[in-house]
Amino acid sequence: MQRDEAKLREYYAAAPADICLADVDLDRVPSHVSIIMDGNGRWAQARGLDRSRGHVAGVDALREAVTTSVRLGLDALSVYAFSTENWRRPQREVDLLMHLFATTLVNELPLFHQENVRLRFLGDLDALPEKTRQVFQRGLDETADHTGMTFALAVNYGSRAEIARAARQIAQEVAAGSLDPSDVDEDALASRLYTAGLPDPDLLIRTSGELRLSNYLLWQLAYTEFYVTPTFWPDFSRWDFLRAVVSYQSRSRRFGGVVTS
Ligand code: FPP
Repeated sequence: MQRDEAKLREYYAAAPADICLADVDLDRVPSHVSIIMDGNGRWAQARGLDRSRGHVAGVDALREAVTTSVRLGLDALSVYAFSTENWRRPQREVDLLMHLFATTLVNELPLFHQENVRLRFLGDLDALPEKTRQVFQRGLDETADHTGMTFALAVNYGSRAEIARAARQIAQEVAAGSLDPSDVDEDALASRLYTAGLPDPDLLIRTSGELRLSNYLLWQLAYTEFYVTPTFWPDFSRWDFLRAVVSYQSRSRRFGGVVTS
């Protein structure tokens, strides 16, 4: 993806002591970064605030992550915003999150236009409130022609359900005679996942220190490098993003093979 180096340098001016843009190899930034945004509730509770305030603060961190990804020249940024298990949260919190998704999307459309960002969604949107679905559809329609970075929002997403859905589709196509069982391979399955057409993530960032995948992109993360930080999501800044990229660049990715250089 093209990046504007002058804008990038300006964006990363005033570096903290431990990290700066020069620490990053700009020829080897990951193509697709995915984030499990965790710790909104604890961020709020640590300040004596309602959990909802953590989600609201999380919107600012998400906006910064989108801008950072565009500045770095990523092809794709995906984030886990709401899992199929998150419906178990108190109804008030679920309602707030659905409302926040809708209002944020409308508020951020100018940013998506300005930065040429194309939106897509991962997950089963049918179960979402009508208003949220309408706004999501508007976001899809209005950014469909954008040619820059893809921003994928995982909402009502669960990886096991996604894989089961793909398997069901394949079974239906085989039963209908439009797909031969001998053509059911990894590509056939991958092309029926919500992420079809997106490269697998190179780097997965999880905030708030938890060491689990929480039913997120189980298929797509097969060879992804993980970066876990204790920072709560609302505090995750452009500098934390850079720290994650520097850590990623220090890894030797072998994809099951041997080191070649
Ligand atoms: C995890 O924190 C966060 C979520 C379940 C929701 C993610 C939502 C946002 C970042 C708000 C903005 C997003 C969009 C798309 C507008 P948690 O509540 O699980 O925190 P905890 O583990 O400390 O309880």
